[in-house]
Amino acid sequence: MSNYDIKDIQQAEGGRRRIEWAEREMPVLRSIRERFAKEKPLKGLRLSCCLHVTTETANLMRTLHDGGADIVLTASNPLSTQDDVAAALVSQYEVPVFAIKGEDKTTYFKHIRAALEHKPHMTQDDGADLVSSLFFIEMGRFEKLEPSLAEWAKTLKDEERKEMLKNVIGGTEETTTGVIRLKAMEKDGVLKFPVIAVNDALTKHMFDNRYGTGQSTVDGIVRATNVLLAGKTFVVAGYGWCGRGLASRARGMGAQVIVTEVDPMKALEAAMDGFQVMPMLDAAKVGDIFCTVTGDLNVLDGHHFAAMKDGALVANSGHFNVEINIPALEKMSVGKPNLVRPFVDQYTTKDGRKINILGEGRLINLASAEGHPASVMDMSFANQALSAEYMAKNADKLEKKVYSVPAEIDNEIARLKLEAMGVKIDVLTDEQLHYLNSWEEGT
Ligand SMILES: NC(=O)c1ccc[n+]([C@@H]2O[C@H](COP(=O)([O-])OP(=O)(O)OC[C@H]3O[C@@H](n4cnc5c(N)ncnc54)[C@H](O)[C@@H]3O)[C@@H](O)[C@H]2O)c1
Repeated sequence: MSNYDIKDIQQAEGGRRRIEWAEREMPVLRSIRERFAKEKPLKGLRLSCCLHVTTETANLMRTLHDGGADIVLTASNPLSTQDDVAAALVSQYEVPVFAIKGEDKTTYFKHIRAALEHKPHMTQDDGADLVSSLFFIEMGRFEKLEPSLAEWAKTLKDEERKEMLKNVIGGTEETTTGVIRLKAMEKDGVLKFPVIAVNDALTKHMFDNRYGTGQSTVDGIVRATNVLLAGKTFVVAGYGWCGRGLASRARGMGAQVIVTEVDPMKALEAAMDGFQVMPMLDAAKVGDIFCTVTGDLNVLDGHHFAAMKDGALVANSGHFNVEINIPALEKMSVGKPNLVRPFVDQYTTKDGRKINILGEGRLINLASAEGHPASVMDMSFANQALSAEYMAKNADKLEKKVYSVPAEIDNEIARLKLEAMGVKIDVLTDEQLHYLNSWEEGT
């Protein structure tokens, strides 16, 4: 395979301008990049990164590159690549990229293969597709691989397959769904190196998942449909970090928001936050717009589609395209869906209703919009960069487990972000410190 695979290198200049625009909002990452450029903490390390190819990711790649790493980047979702960014990374920032927006599954895994052929010392994943492919190959579980990747893996000698894993000292994981998969691997005893769960950092999920997903998911739905949210009934499935953000942003735009949940605590929180809470089957009858953000399977299923109103808009912002059971909708529809606008597939049910699936059920904020705004990714990717540095220094002391981002890193990122925002806070006095650490003072 050549040393990159992107849509069109001619788009590089536009990509560079957008990457620099995003960087204005990424002061924490920029300060890390400046330090990395001097200290080169990643010198001599090969990194394979499987992340959404966006302007913010490009700034992370620049940081790792300036830190001395030898990187390749592949997409972590077939629809999330920004082709101009991929072009700029290749031509202006010396980062080989393997990603094309809209690539099919075979191409997606051909690109994962390129990341594996880079023989990484470290991995960066968003959803754990890279690490799981690596483990399945090493274990010889070819049946679990996408067929073309399996075909390639079968051509490798046993030593070559084992060797691929031997180089790896550790990895990082960006998202909730990836962390869930990695923790399941740890439980099953198949996790082969330490991984830092970037998603678990407070400066990641409290801001990126909540405010980033909240805003950009509304943005994605609006860009795909130009729908007016005011006065519409907007159903949010899942009231975790992403769901909280989405529900509050949809309400902010004037929608009446219904939340569906399976966790009583989250459902209670949603109810006390002032949202209507009900089972999806009830919500299906009244919703105008639906968006899943659960990380779960078939949250919108055939019986829900059967209850929906004519014209319903249905999207997903959870990591994988499994939250909406599109095959079930296909079965209840006549003919093929009509692509009525970019990112809007209109299905006609046998009883004549139109149901619109946005972005093929993939992360709508990355499919039809630009993903999270740079200002939140500043913190998420500061966590990625500092976790990579931490891994480079400490991998030999870590076990084959999923680790949280060290609290010092998390707190330092919060401090730097506040500083960059020009926000000052109070400092505990000695007297207060003493009081808060003692039990003797009471009523
Ligand atoms: N779109 C993006 O850019 C983006 C950003 C961050 C995370 N994510 C992804 O979004 C998903 C959610 O992430 P999160 O951080 O909010 O996770 P979370 O664990 O905080 O929340 C998920 C919620 O979904 C609920 N849930 C599970 N099954 C359900 C069902 N059948 N019906 C209703 N609710 C259900 C859970 O009880 C939980 O409260 C994950 O797949 C994550 O990887 C996407």
